[in-house]
Amino acid sequence: MYPSKVKIVEVGPRDGLQNEKSLIALADKVALVEALADAGLSMVETGSFVSPKWVPQMADSAQVFAAIRRKSDVTYSALTPNLKGFEAAMEAGADEVAIFGAASESFSQKNINCSIAESLARFEPVMEAAQRAGKRVRGYVSCVLGCPYEGEISAHKVAEVTRALLDMGCYEVSLGDTIGVGTPLKTQQMLEIVARTVSVDKLAVHFHDTYGQALANILVALQQGVSVIDSAVAGLGGCPYAKGASGNVATEDVIYMLSGMGIDTGVDLNKLVKAGNAITASLGRPTQSKVARAMTGT
Ligand code: HMG
Ligand code: MG
Repeated sequence: MYPSKVKIVEVGPRDGLQNEKSLIALADKVALVEALADAGLSMVETGSFVSPKWVPQMADSAQVFAAIRRKSDVTYSALTPNLKGFEAAMEAGADEVAIFGAASESFSQKNINCSIAESLARFEPVMEAAQRAGKRVRGYVSCVLGCPYEGEISAHKVAEVTRALLDMGCYEVSLGDTIGVGTPLKTQQMLEIVARTVSVDKLAVHFHDTYGQALANILVALQQGVSVIDSAVAGLGGCPYAKGASGNVATEDVIYMLSGMGIDTGVDLNKLVKAGNAITASLGRPTQSKVARAMTGT
């Protein structure tokens, strides 16, 4: 009923930090990426190559990539909205990239300044360049369970954009509940509709935990056969273009739940909690992970 292995895509250094208002020291970002890899996470979204005017916190992603001590069995990925971002990511040495679309027209406009159709057209040259460079491309679809500007989003639109990204050559598409409004039954219904057009082994889920529903939604996704989960250590995160969006589901909490279900992730929870506590200490605020709090008695 549940997958025996689950892959975690750690998005803390990117999704987790991109919305932080005060600039975080390069050394703290580098230490975070290294600690996450040391904890056994096999994929770490390390930064993004977007306009620094739009997301100032990610302006030093090239320096982060240059400074990290790399582990050979870890994939260090980057978010790239266009060819310019892709080229910068390649120059910085990103192992793979992610393109990011949305199931909501208004969110697409606010986030990447173009319509959904324009975004897909803009991703084509990125995909071609990635194929030439032999790099894998992951896709994201935002607002799959609701949009901060439009409210309800049709699961059929989610399916359509997911399908377009896979047809274009993405090896996997991560379905994002960008503002964390989804509930388990809605998650199930959305996944059922998407899985009618694409194979479930090409899907990942990406829940923000604004309403505290993320773990329940993940459980439903696992029941539907999804075995790739995005999360951010310490529950860091939020999108600058999604009003009210709070942090991603905490990686510590996901690992604890999976380990309780006997599902292997290869992650050392003690090391992970230390990584989360270190970054929240530098940010000067408590962790959002209940598991981290329980394990450290805070
Ligand atoms: P635009 O203003 O339409 O772009 O922005 P443009 O092509 O007209 O260029 C404007 C300026 O940006 C130019 O510079 C370009 O050179 C520069 P200027 O001449 O003004 O000095 N520029 C770039 N600079 C660096 N890197 C680039 C790049 N591209 C252009 N790649 C653009 C369009 C897409 C660039 C902009 O809207 C943008 O950067 N958006 C990124 C927004 C973002 O990062 N959002 C957060 C990530 S998405 C998310 O969090 C959701 C997710 O987690 C899943 C979920 O939760 O659902 C993934
Ligand atoms: Mg996100």
